[in-house]
Amino acid sequence: MCGIVGYIGKEQAAPIILDGLARLEYRGYDSAGMAVYEGNKISTRKAIGRLKVLENITRGGESMPGHSGIGHTRWATHGAPSDKNAHPHTNEAGTIAVVHNGIIENYIPLKKKMTDRGCHFVSETDTEVLAHMLDYYYKGNPLETIIKVLQRVEGSYALGIMFADHPGEIYAARKDSPLIVGRNESGCFIASDVPAILKYTRTVYYLDNQEVVVLRGDDLSFYSMDEEEVEKESATIDWDADAAEKAGYEHFMLKEMYEQPRTIVDTISPRVRDRNGEREIHIEELNMTDDELRAIKKIHIVACGSAYHAGVTGKYVLEGLARIPVEVDLASEFRYRNPLLEEGCMVIVISQSGETADTLAALRESREKGFQVLGIVNVVGSSIAREADACLYTWAGPEIAVATTKAYSAQLAALYLLAMKLAKVRGLMSDREFTALLADLKCLPDQIELLLGQKQKIQRFANRYLGARDIFFIGRGIDYAISLEGSLKLKEISYVHSEAYAAGELKHGTISLIEDGTLVVAVSTQPELYQKMISNIVEVKARGAFVMAVTNEENKAVEKASDYVVYIPQTNPYFTNSLAIIPLQLFAYYVAVGRGCDVDKPRNLAKSVTVE
Ligand code: F6R
Repeated sequence: MCGIVGYIGKEQAAPIILDGLARLEYRGYDSAGMAVYEGNKISTRKAIGRLKVLENITRGGESMPGHSGIGHTRWATHGAPSDKNAHPHTNEAGTIAVVHNGIIENYIPLKKKMTDRGCHFVSETDTEVLAHMLDYYYKGNPLETIIKVLQRVEGSYALGIMFADHPGEIYAARKDSPLIVGRNESGCFIASDVPAILKYTRTVYYLDNQEVVVLRGDDLSFYSMDEEEVEKESATIDWDADAAEKAGYEHFMLKEMYEQPRTIVDTISPRVRDRNGEREIHIEELNMTDDELRAIKKIHIVACGSAYHAGVTGKYVLEGLARIPVEVDLASEFRYRNPLLEEGCMVIVISQSGETADTLAALRESREKGFQVLGIVNVVGSSIAREADACLYTWAGPEIAVATTKAYSAQLAALYLLAMKLAKVRGLMSDREFTALLADLKCLPDQIELLLGQKQKIQRFANRYLGARDIFFIGRGIDYAISLEGSLKLKEISYVHSEAYAAGELKHGTISLIEDGTLVVAVSTQPELYQKMISNIVEVKARGAFVMAVTNEENKAVEKASDYVVYIPQTNPYFTNSLAIIPLQLFAYYVAVGRGCDVDKPRNLAKSVTVE
């Protein structure tokens, strides 16, 4: 996730681009850059760090005069934050400049091909390959060249492109990454999101997937990938500036919940490849041979908070699919219990920020003991990402809301991939089972979309519990892990007291807390445990509880036992967390909104806990 902005028209481009990028910094802030058509050439400036650095070195854009340009604020994916990995990227002659948001999934073979053709790469990014390919295929017609290159590219992109010999034009294209086009009496704009250009215009055009647009100072032309011109209607934005930062969502948390389908696609798809006509999971970041993967005897997962909850799910999935014993620890406990790490064990630390002090300390402790540590991390170039022996990035993009949603979902997706990979290399999964699991994995984004579509129903239900004193979550197996996360989401943002219990544990104490009308959320997505959960539901109902069940469509028996049911679409039992968590996130969100809480910044909490 990065932000891009472009302008061509009567005004100076650089100040407009800097201003737009400042409003997109929430999309990434580890480096920034600009390319402006200056005199008869493209000049490019870029720098690691916040946008302020770029503003300073260009004196607010003054040192880059010119009427057309493109800019970028980066959230590092391929290649750590650095000057050379910052965008724009150019061909060797500097005559073509590209800014990109998205992931070029097949950049490795493309890069190899371009290197074999004599191109010299200066960055570690996936984007740079586009600049070299554009150069390679360019015969004077930018539109034709862009289409030729994009036909060879897999993955997602929103692109802004300039050609030095076409100074009066900027080109842009998109597939699966957002890009809007704006226009006013002074010129035309491109941007990843509305807030970047709202100050200049409210007239926008939404570029569809696989479309290219040519911007001239006073004119716009849209094209399909067949080079056919496309007619497009403009739309008028009526959001206020604050709503625009959140793309029209009331809170970043809601926006990020809605980004979960995309996040899962971005985490999974670059790691599922075709080899000789067969699908396979390829996690090159692991840097381990199949023999080394087969030799793993035990896994320790270490994390904090929601990342720990993802780890608890990981235990069930890894043990179930790959038959490797897994221990899950809270990082703050792990580091002080002198853990026994035996020969052949692998340590996995999970962290959105990559900076959590306890998780980082657990990583260091494990490495000191001589063990290999795999990080599952969202923030590229963070301390955990840098210090781990290997790092599997979750491509969730920047998470602004303090309560995690999309990064948690991406962590689950990463753990599923790892479990399937290990099961496959250990010969525990037939091709048929593997194909079926892969198909279920690929359905998750659409299924999450469907669940998000039920937000009004969940909101109505949540509104009945704004005054609740205690809410309990119960589940067994993976459903217990889901309950842990559902309960944390609720209490951290709404301040309603809540606990999660393994459903079988209730009668060992907690059931005494159930009173008339207490809400119990019963998560029941594991078919072999349906009956057991019904018994637990009946137990709490007999003590006066009101039961909301979250279960699979097939589990109709639960309808009779509970008071309110939310069904999730059918998936493999190992993947149900990814679906069942959605109504629980929505429930927590709407309880918090209804109680007037500061949803994005709950009291006493920080996004990145860098102290013990
Ligand atoms: C809860 C939440 C926290 C984090 C925890 C670990 O919504 O976000 O519980 O999961 O503080 O943070 P990271 O993943 O950055 O290590």
